[in-house]
Amino acid sequence: MTMSIRLSASFALLALVLSLADAYDPSPLQDICVGVAEPHNALFVNGMFCKNPSLATADDFLFSGLQVPRSTANPVGSTVTPVFAAQLPGLNTLGISMVRIDFGIGGLNPPHTHPRGTEILLVLEGTLYVGFVTSNQLNNTFFEKVLHPGDVFVFPIGMIHFQLNVGKTNAVAIAGLSSQNPGVITVANALFNAKPPISPEVLAKGFQVDEKLVETLQKKFWYYN
Ligand SMILES: *[C@@H]1O[C@H](CO)[C@@H](O)[C@H](O)[C@H]1NC(C)=O
Repeated sequence: MTMSIRLSASFALLALVLSLADAYDPSPLQDICVGVAEPHNALFVNGMFCKNPSLATADDFLFSGLQVPRSTANPVGSTVTPVFAAQLPGLNTLGISMVRIDFGIGGLNPPHTHPRGTEILLVLEGTLYVGFVTSNQLNNTFFEKVLHPGDVFVFPIGMIHFQLNVGKTNAVAIAGLSSQNPGVITVANALFNAKPPISPEVLAKGFQVDEKLVETLQKKFWYYN
């Protein structure tokens, strides 16, 4: 083996190992891959373990109950009901998922980002003020809109976004996300409720406020909707 062949062989091996190890939604390599927590009846590893396809049933592709309103009696006044691969195992490897979001009057789905998914949101009931902010390279441009039933708005992958109920009634929205497990980072919670806490000096400089304010924020109860 010449050095370059040996090098490219080891790079190919490395790429193979990395692609087996990463958890980014891959293109499916088979028709179905119902996720199972227990590898007892499993065949392939691709994201979660896949249930042996000959043991899959229609129920593996079904989630029920998204018509049910959830209580929004919490500090932010909104509740997200996820239908990710963890709740609907048939989503495993398919790169798609869904949520229902309930909003009380004045309820907020606080500024957050989905590190692995674009979100497309449909308002079913109520009036939502929504927006997202682009990255530094695009000058943190803010795109905002007031949405009514039937309106669809898209939040591009990774962008910080929010939804606020500005109507006089409860609001309900359904969103699709381009990942079986899009992830959520709620900005304030991630920074002020980190465990162990981020040094107040870092947050004070980062936010251009004094450390007392940072310490006050760090002592607050941060709710995860
Ligand atoms: C961002 O700001 C710079 C400097 O003002 C400007 O040249 C550039 O066009 C802006 N980009 C966008 C996407 O607005």
